[in-house]
Amino acid sequence: MSNRTPLMAGNWKMNLDHLEANHLIQGLAMELKDHDHDYSKCEVVVIPPFTDLRTVQTVVEADSLSIKYGAQDVSIHDNGAYTGEISTAMLDKLGVTHVVMGHSERREYHGESDELVGAKARKALDAGMTPILCCGEALEVRKAGTHVEFVLGQIRAALAGWAAEDVAKIVIAYEPIWAIGTGETATAADAQEVCSAIREALRADFGEETAEATRILYGGSAKPDNIKELMAQADVDGALIGGASLKAESFAAMARFY
Ligand code: G3P
Repeated sequence: MSNRTPLMAGNWKMNLDHLEANHLIQGLAMELKDHDHDYSKCEVVVIPPFTDLRTVQTVVEADSLSIKYGAQDVSIHDNGAYTGEISTAMLDKLGVTHVVMGHSERREYHGESDELVGAKARKALDAGMTPILCCGEALEVRKAGTHVEFVLGQIRAALAGWAAEDVAKIVIAYEPIWAIGTGETATAADAQEVCSAIREALRADFGEETAEATRILYGGSAKPDNIKELMAQADVDGALIGGASLKAESFAAMARFY
C-alpha cells in the first residue's frame, strides 16, 4: 500500500463554453457533496479550457469547494510579447494549482519536444503549481514492442538535470495514444507494465524516495466501468480522464473508485 494520495484529473480538452463549464462544475460539486466524497482518499482536479478558468474559479471559491483546477498548457515565458500564450502569473491569479504538459495532442499538433515539455514542467513547478507531465506511445510503437523504452525516453529527456526532490513534486500521466478517445482502454496489466517501468526508472535515476512519492496516472478511455481494475494496480495512482470527465456523474463516480 503506497502513501501516495490518488488523483482523478478531468481533461476537458477543447470543450464547453463558460456557461456549459458553469453547469458542469456545479454538477460535479453536487455529485461529490451528495456522495460525501472523501478528498483524502482521492484528490479531484478539473482541467478546463483557458476560457473557462475564471468561471471555475468563481464557483470553487464561492462555495469553498475542495475541487482543484488546472490549465491545459503554459508558456515558458513570463508576461510580455508572446502572442497567444498564457503565463504562470496569469494562471496563478486564477487560482490554478495544476498544469498539464506534453499531452500527445500538443506533441502531435504543435510539435512539442520532450525538452519543451520539461521546460514547461519546470516553469509550472517554479510557480508553485503541480505539473502533470504526459507521455505515451503510438500504436505502431506498441506493436513493435518498444513502448516501455519509448516512454522512458520521453520522461528522461524531459526531466534531464532535475533534482530528485523536484521530480517527487510532479505527476506523470501515462497515456497510450492508441487508447485516447478510442474506447480502446489499455488493459490494467498494460497500464501496470508501463507505470511500474516508469517507477523503476525514477528509482534508478532519482532514488527510492522520489520513486515512491511520484504519482503516476493512467489516461486513455478510462471510464467508471474500468477504473476500479486500473486503480487496483500497484503503480497506478489515478487517471487523467477525457470524455468521461465531461459528465459530472461519471467523473464523480470514478473519483469514488475507493
Ligand atoms: O488527457 C486525457 C485524455 O487524453 C484521455 O481521453 O477521452 O480517452 O479519456 P479519453
